[in-house]
Amino acid sequence: MAHSKDSTNQRPDLEENTNVVEAHATLLADGAAQARERRIEETGMEPVSLWIFLGSAIVLLVGGAVVGAGGKLFNYDPHSAGYIRPEYASDADSGPTIGPIMEALMKRGKNIYTKCSGCHGSSGAGDGANRPPLANSEWVTGSPERLAMIILNGVKGPIIVDGKSYGADVMDGQGPLTADELAGIMTYVRNSFGNEVGDVVTPEQAAAAIKISNSRAGAHMSSDELNANHDKALEGDPIDPGTPVDFETLQPVEAPAE
Ligand code: HEC
Repeated sequence: MAHSKDSTNQRPDLEENTNVVEAHATLLADGAAQARERRIEETGMEPVSLWIFLGSAIVLLVGGAVVGAGGKLFNYDPHSAGYIRPEYASDADSGPTIGPIMEALMKRGKNIYTKCSGCHGSSGAGDGANRPPLANSEWVTGSPERLAMIILNGVKGPIIVDGKSYGADVMDGQGPLTADELAGIMTYVRNSFGNEVGDVVTPEQAAAAIKISNSRAGAHMSSDELNANHDKALEGDPIDPGTPVDFETLQPVEAPAE
């Protein structure tokens, strides 16, 4: 733009090289910005920063991922990854537990032994009088069918236990017992009180014993009848005492992952 150097036409506050049109434009722009600021002050509707949008988006994304992963961010499980529940820690009634059939039957048998301990003592030593011991007794550790017949039918009359003669008292049959219960109590007494037969009486074998007992007419056993008719093993395949079973069903299951 042509610019006069005439001093009378000179504005005192303008430098000679000031571009008036540009300066005016700047002035207008500043005015608009100030007007915006004022509006914001009046209404509080300040435009939100792009960073706040981005920050919120990240929070939502991470939060969504956490919820999607089942809240694993806040995991209070005290066990480390790969932790396996101890095998014999719980009762048969507190959910399925897997372990060797020997352990499962011993646990059951221990509970059922409360039926017997009043007479035979909690350590299987007998009552010191007419109730004989189960510890170190041939009737307990010997043939399974004989032991099953004693438990299911009871005993009466003279009987020699661990070299000592008994007969002044009577034991009534302890049934009815289920096959699982009979397997448990038999396995328990055969492997407790210092008895170490080391095998298990399976529920299948116990069921065979119950069948024999049911087909027999008569009440208490005598030691003669026991020895004459029942000095044998029970029908049914023996099972490895280490076979893993479900503690509740006593059915074999896959071995727990090591
Ligand atoms: C009321 C007392 C009583 C209860 C309960 C009882 N018994 Fe007996 N038991 C006896 C008596 C008494 C004899 C000996 C009977 C005789 O002299 O003929 C005996 C004998 C036995 C015998 C053969 C002898 C020996 O000591 O080895 C076995 C085995 C046996 N009982 C196991 C059991 C089991 C297992 C239970 C629980 C399921 C049980 N008894 C519950 C009183 C009892």
